[in-house]
Amino acid sequence: MIPFFSGEQVRQAVSPARALEAVREAFVAYARGEWSMPPKVYVTNYPAGDFRAMPALGAGHASLKWVTSFPGNPARGLPTVTGLVLLSDAETGQLKAMLDAGAVTALRTGAAAVLAAETLGAPGARTAAVVGTGVNGRAAAAAFVAVGREPLLWDVDPARAQATAAAVGGRVAGSREEALAADLVVTVTPGQEILFPEGALRPGQHVSLMGADGPGKAEIAVAELARIRLFCDDWEQASHGGELAAALDAGRIRRGDVTTLPDVLAGRAEGRRSADEITAFDSTGLAIQDLALALAALERAGEIAGLQRVSL
Ligand SMILES: NC(=O)c1ccc[n+]([C@@H]2O[C@H](COP(=O)([O-])OP(=O)(O)OC[C@H]3O[C@@H](n4cnc5c(N)ncnc54)[C@H](O)[C@@H]3O)[C@@H](O)[C@H]2O)c1
Repeated sequence: MIPFFSGEQVRQAVSPARALEAVREAFVAYARGEWSMPPKVYVTNYPAGDFRAMPALGAGHASLKWVTSFPGNPARGLPTVTGLVLLSDAETGQLKAMLDAGAVTALRTGAAAVLAAETLGAPGARTAAVVGTGVNGRAAAAAFVAVGREPLLWDVDPARAQATAAAVGGRVAGSREEALAADLVVTVTPGQEILFPEGALRPGQHVSLMGADGPGKAEIAVAELARIRLFCDDWEQASHGGELAAALDAGRIRRGDVTTLPDVLAGRAEGRRSADEITAFDSTGLAIQDLALALAALERAGEIAGLQRVSL
């Protein structure tokens, strides 16, 4: 019988702290070549939205996430991100678990944002902020809380920032400028507005750019990317569909300008070089993160009340 984890059951099984650990381990295994994944496939139906098929292999398992990004959905009372994760045994091919993709995505996205901020931020960074506190921004806020920070929260919809503060902790920022000036900033907006124009970031700041994970989206100006130190989750994906793709196409950056976070975590590349350096992490979201979360949930299957089990 195959367990099916609803969104609530995924959150019961995997805490933000466990998600941070799982995503760190996945990034290191990927950098070492122990885990693998083909680049994600986009199936587009713009302007409505897109579907993504994200397969990965690692730790004796294979996974596939079939997930959406439909930016207009909140206005319809529907989630932007929805779908399923399938986890299979890599030796027998047998299905081992099915999980709500929205909850898996939020946990691993929040974890990656904060893992990047804590790894690449300046030593002694004091203030942290999350800009865009929807589903995935709330998960980033929860991950900051899990590492002992009280993040500033900002959203164009003040009710969302307040709801996030009430649900996971943190404090609503007095202004957008206050949030964008934090030592560690995580942005998780739909990527329709530039938050950082040229010259906006100050020495020592770090920003994890999570929202612009596909073509046509941006949270930072190309000219700003061209003057700061750049990191991404995976070059293959980031060079095709994230913040860096636009800068690459414009000839403002080259492959050699970008370091991957998995390489930094595995000790194969240098992270921040000085307290004054400005660092940015461009996340497109990796299938190996979903695999790590699915495995972390499956570990706890026996402890989750009311888990449905289905046979094929
Ligand atoms: N990098 C990744 O791994 C990854 C993973 C999941 C989602 N995403 C992307 O993140 C984005 C957000 O996804 P979500 O599911 O959290 O959406 P959501 O609709 O739940 O949340 C987005 C939030 O951003 C706010 N917002 C919009 N414009 C803003 C602005 N200019 N300034 C501040 N806040 C603003 C909205 O009010 C909303 O609360 C999408 O573009 C999605 O594709 C990336």
